[in-house]
Formats: sequence, C-alpha cells, structure tokens
Amino acid sequence: MKILNNRNTNYPIDDVFLKRYSPRAMSGETISEEELMTLFDAARWAPSAFNIQPWRFIYAENGTEDFKKFISLLSDWNQVWCAKASVLIIVISKIRGDGHEYNTHSSDTGAAWENLALQATDMDIIAHGMSGFDYERAKTELNIPDEYKVEMAIAVGKHGKIEDLPENMRAGETPNDRKPLSEIIFKGKFVG
Ligand SMILES: Cc1cc2nc3c(=O)[nH]c(=O)nc-3n(C[C@H](O)[C@H](O)[C@H](O)COP(=O)(O)O)c2cc1C
Repeated sequence: MKILNNRNTNYPIDDVFLKRYSPRAMSGETISEEELMTLFDAARWAPSAFNIQPWRFIYAENGTEDFKKFISLLSDWNQVWCAKASVLIIVISKIRGDGHEYNTHSSDTGAAWENLALQATDMDIIAHGMSGFDYERAKTELNIPDEYKVEMAIAVGKHGKIEDLPENMRAGETPNDRKPLSEIIFKGKFVG
C-alpha cells in the first residue's frame, strides 16, 4: 500500500506515477530554455515502433506573438488558466513516410508526451495535457502538413496558488483517482 499526493495504490510503483497530475493553478513565472529543452529531451527518449520517432512539438513562449496565436486556438475554459502558462505546445505525429503508414504514430507520441510529463513532475513543473482546442485551425495556422496528425496540446508552467483560479476551477486541483485494475485488465480474452 502506498499513499501519495492524495492517491493510494496497492502495488509498489514508482512515486512519480502518483505525483504526476494536472493542476491548472500556474504562477505566470517563465521556465528557462534549459528546463524546456530538458522536457523535450525526455520526450525524445520514448520508445516507438521501428524507432520511427513520429512525435513533433511546436511551441510558443508566453509574451510572444506566437503565444497569442496558440492561446487563441484553445477553448474558452482552457484560455482562462493557460494565460499563466509559460509555454504552450501543440503535439503532432507523423502518420506516414518513406512509403509506409506508421500504424502506431499516435501511441508512440502518447508515450513521448508522458515522458515529458513525468520529467516535468520530477522538476516540479506542471505539464497539463489538453484536447480542448481547435484542431483544424491549429493545422492550418501552424502550417502543419497533411502527413501529420494534430494529437494534443500541453500547457507548461510553474505551480501557482489555488486562489489565482476562478472558483469553478478550484476543485480540479485535488489529484484524482483511477479505475481499479479489475476494470481494465483481462486474462486471456476481453470480457464485455
Ligand atoms: C490528451 C489529454 C487531453 C486533455 N484535455 C484537457 C483540456 O482540454 N482541459 C483541461 O483542463 N484538462 C485536460 N486534460 C487533463 C485531464 O482531465 C487529466 O489528465 C485527467 O483528469 C487525469 O488527471 P491527472 O492528469 O491530474 O492525473 C487532458 C489530458 C489529456 C492527457
């Protein structure tokens, strides 16, 4: 039994899995170039089928014209708390290349995003995934070619105070739980 970050589990998993979560309260402080590149470097070491490494990351730093464009792609909900993010990232994956379809481009890129998130956790930095944004506009406005799929966005920033968030967002600051193992694993065949 392990209890950490308001979460508990019956197995001796590494602390980082319980520590990583997705707060929205950010301080507005910038993260350094070194810190940002450290996050991308962790992502780079994810495994991928045939080591294709289909992940790509397009980013914008707060205070720039690019950031204004990136934040305008987000849903109204996400725009509120992302105003204090240090960096916004759009994650894309390469669907095909060299005459091959990359069947695992999305799962490989998911592994890369999780690497980034776990590295951020280790550095006490928030990396909060988002699907609440305009995927079509992201594709056109960020000049993304057709052989790439827009996967998700990530807000990266330093931890802030819960009072900086509007009241309706504060409950989400408590780390949430997971389905039990019994609901997600099957021995031999799927049971529906
Ligand atoms: C691909 C993806 C998309 C998400 N989209 C949003 C989003 O648009 N807005 C938001 O506030 N949180 C978003 N989240 C955060 C999830 O709600 C959160 O990861 C989930 O509730 C599990 O909580 P935890 O990350 O704190 O463990 C997203 C997370 C992922 C991985």
